[in-house]
Amino acid sequence: MTSPERFAALWRSLAPIGNSPQGYHRISWTYPDLACREWFAEEAADRGLRVETDGNGNLWAWRGDPAAGDAVVTGSHFDSVPGGGGYDGPLGIVSAFLALDLLSERGVTPRRPIGVVAFTEEEGSRFGVACLGSRLLTGALDPERAATLRDRDGVTLPEAMKSGGVDASLLGPDPARLARIGTFVELHVEQGRALTAPVGVASAIWPHGRWRLDVTGQGNHAGTTRMAERHDPMLTFAFAVLAANKEARLNDAHATVGRVSVEPNATNAIPSAVTAWLDARAADQSTLDSLVAAIGTRVVERAAQDGTAIAIAAESVSPVVEFHTALRDRIAALLGGAPVLPTGAGHDAGVMAGHVPTAMLFVRNPTGVSHAPDESATDIDCAAGVEALATVLEELACR
Ligand code: GLV
Ligand code: MN
Ligand code: MN
Repeated sequence: MTSPERFAALWRSLAPIGNSPQGYHRISWTYPDLACREWFAEEAADRGLRVETDGNGNLWAWRGDPAAGDAVVTGSHFDSVPGGGGYDGPLGIVSAFLALDLLSERGVTPRRPIGVVAFTEEEGSRFGVACLGSRLLTGALDPERAATLRDRDGVTLPEAMKSGGVDASLLGPDPARLARIGTFVELHVEQGRALTAPVGVASAIWPHGRWRLDVTGQGNHAGTTRMAERHDPMLTFAFAVLAANKEARLNDAHATVGRVSVEPNATNAIPSAVTAWLDARAADQSTLDSLVAAIGTRVVERAAQDGTAIAIAAESVSPVVEFHTALRDRIAALLGGAPVLPTGAGHDAGVMAGHVPTAMLFVRNPTGVSHAPDESATDIDCAAGVEALATVLEELACR
């Protein structure tokens, strides 16, 4: 049994890293991310696991020899959104180590190698592409494109990796590593209020994506430019926010504009340019496509009215994921009929699902808040999550 106290003890050893009154800032390749990576290496060493960093910066810890193949891998990510919660990602890694402890205590001898993984930059907070590490590993992201990604300060991904001590010359697909994995299971905090039991099993991930909206106009004086003579990109942007919200409601979907940057960002000047990022999600691809098309049409019309120019570009798009049905059902039954539910949140498991049989376990989130400092899960539920993960790993690795 993992007691809530035992969960809390390991959790406390990681929890302070990157935390602040404004939430977690564990941005990839910055100091908190590197400190989390060190924590991973130490926890792995304490358990006698062999640690590797792959060419994409993903961390792996192995019990048994991965070269034997058909490995069972579990894990998640350390990185957070800016001002995020502590559970999104790290819960899956802490739970993985504790689940391995349970297997050792039970005297279980796995027939298959077991790996713990910490994927790089799942949130896409620094370089804009969600699930960066798992996409690169699986070949879903072109390494040449990845090498040109820049953060808000103009630092490229290879430069950031180098500052974290990882050589980026090996960025890209790693079919040999992928071929060693027989099954992937990610445990994750649930990110809404859909799960009322302590632990659930994922059925699907909604298709979703991020689109960049570049609106350009004419910078000018706030006091002297007549209202009728302005080409104000802020107006087009404001309309885009409202149009996204309205279209999402009409389509029973989700749309959010959570990030914006304004040039020159002066109180007494009409901006010359506004860049905003639209996050859109829906239960199925055709709804998502119509949602994004409808928002685009309305914003282009509005730009013409405002005398501004607009460019819309997809930055990170994820198709619908239906998790492996037999594995999902087997796990739900093994966990005594755990609830099975879809999610609107993206995960590395969604990327892995295109390549290996993959499942997800969710741990209840009492407030439903996520990507914000109030994200939480009780120690009791987290301990139940560890127990469930250990049960799943034992079933997969030993039978
Ligand atoms: C990741 O958590 C996402 O859903 O954006
Ligand atoms: Mn997240
Ligand atoms: Mn996550």
